[in-house]
Amino acid sequence: MSTVQKSGVAALECQDLRVTLVGAAGAVDILRGVDLAVQPGEFVSILGPSGSGKTTLLRVLGGLQSIAGGEARCNGTAVSGPPDGVVTVFQDYSNSLLPWRSVRRNVALGIESNCSKQECRERVEAALAMVNLQASADEYPWRLSGGMQQRVQIARALAMRPSVLLMDEPFGALDAMTKASLQDQLQRVQEATGTTVVFVTHDVEEAVYLSDRVVVLAGKPASVGLSLDVDLGRPRDQITTKERPDYLQLRHQVYAALGHEVPR
Ligand SMILES: Nc1ncnc2c1ncn2[C@@H]1O[C@H](COP(=O)(O)OP(=O)(O)O)[C@@H](O)[C@H]1O
Ligand SMILES: [Mg+2]
Repeated sequence: MSTVQKSGVAALECQDLRVTLVGAAGAVDILRGVDLAVQPGEFVSILGPSGSGKTTLLRVLGGLQSIAGGEARCNGTAVSGPPDGVVTVFQDYSNSLLPWRSVRRNVALGIESNCSKQECRERVEAALAMVNLQASADEYPWRLSGGMQQRVQIARALAMRPSVLLMDEPFGALDAMTKASLQDQLQRVQEATGTTVVFVTHDVEEAVYLSDRVVVLAGKPASVGLSLDVDLGRPRDQITTKERPDYLQLRHQVYAALGHEVPR
């Protein structure tokens, strides 16, 4: 069952968004005319060629990147700085964990200064349980595999009880088995918590498998080239979902939008 609420104010919204970045060649429009609305509880993936502006778009939504035109709103309010309840998970988990802190204390990092000790403890334990990390709570992150380190970063985000989770290729550096397992954990947690998720990936199968909607950035400067509803029901399964004709059809459409030649 999906938890998407289709009426009311969008959790995140861009209207005619324009973003300009200054590089060696001067100021360049990276995004122009981006229109996007993400509903509360929706899981939206963002795909696009490398360098198309996926990370830039996520940074705008997270209040980390200023805009040159148009609008970016979170729960109806213009974004100016990181909005309350919006948490970003980066691909590079190794640099976001503190090596001198145990897993448990890394997970507490985002809440320890604004929660009571008791509440902090409860939230940390609940977040560790959501990603099956209780047994490693006293370990140090550098002693863990890449997949476990990424689970620590996700647990830290979950402990903050975000209403919106922004994820930038969070499983990009992991092997296929670990990736599939984390996809399923994320799926379970998202269904249980109703968190809105914007998930940047370059993996077409991952995007279709996880999402309520797949958005493909296209063009230079980029805008939304395709927005595709994924009506595959939930829960999903790595084997049976990926065998469904409608899954294969969606996958085909996304590859085509990314400019892959599809043989007849
Ligand atoms: N700080 C920056 N200054 C100038 N150009 C940048 C900066 N960061 C990224 N870019 C350029 O903006 C474009 C989009 O980058 P990015 O959002 O990281 O793309 P993606 O995440 O889709 O790979 C790229 O062409 C990149 O070279
Ligand atoms: Mg990127």
